[in-house]
Amino acid sequence: MRGLFITLEGGDGAGKSTQIEYIEKFFREKNRVVVCTREPGGTRISEMLRNILLDKQNTEMEDVTEMMIYAAARSQSVREFIKPALERGEVIICDRFVDSSIAYQGYGRELGDMVAEVNSYATGGLRPDITFWFDIDPEKGRERAAKAGEPDRLEREALDFHYRVYEGYKKIAEKEPDRVKRIDATASIEDIKNEIRAYLEELM
Ligand code: TYD
Repeated sequence: MRGLFITLEGGDGAGKSTQIEYIEKFFREKNRVVVCTREPGGTRISEMLRNILLDKQNTEMEDVTEMMIYAAARSQSVREFIKPALERGEVIICDRFVDSSIAYQGYGRELGDMVAEVNSYATGGLRPDITFWFDIDPEKGRERAAKAGEPDRLEREALDFHYRVYEGYKKIAEKEPDRVKRIDATASIEDIKNEIRAYLEELM
């Protein structure tokens, strides 16, 4: 059986975690081996890089440095963990992937096309089978995320940064409608689950 690579994307406070649990349950009930991971992170080295990226004290980090560390963390988890699992036929659910770098570093930091190019090396061309983009207005997302605790280095960015990220996601979704499914993150948890289930059934 072929593996499946599913990613979730969106701004802060979009409610991805609840739906990750749901997707996991969906596939377990179908007797598939399911693994959840996150970016940056998922392997020992990637988690170390995550700490560098999210540390509030690293205010002097250059944008290109940031983009490359995200890509380095991704390269490690793709090769060490994601690709081998897909080859074994497992279902991988990943909280964020390359689209986050395109949106946050490409649009948010305004690094442009360089981001896609660097990431094509990082992933060796691996692409998700399906991506759920949780669409939420940045201001609303920020309010929701604030309730979840202390903001990390990226969450501390000004609202105009988060609006550029949002525009980035919109462009990605427009460019790749077959892969990227827009989810209205303001809908009820139940409605979102039903929508996701319909997409997953179609995918299988
Ligand atoms: P995390 O707490 O995992 O985010 P969330 O809970 O919002 O999914 O922190 C990851 C942060 O890193 C998040 O603010 C988005 C950012 N990020 C990038 O800027 N580029 C990337 O390539 C990735 C994967 C994440």
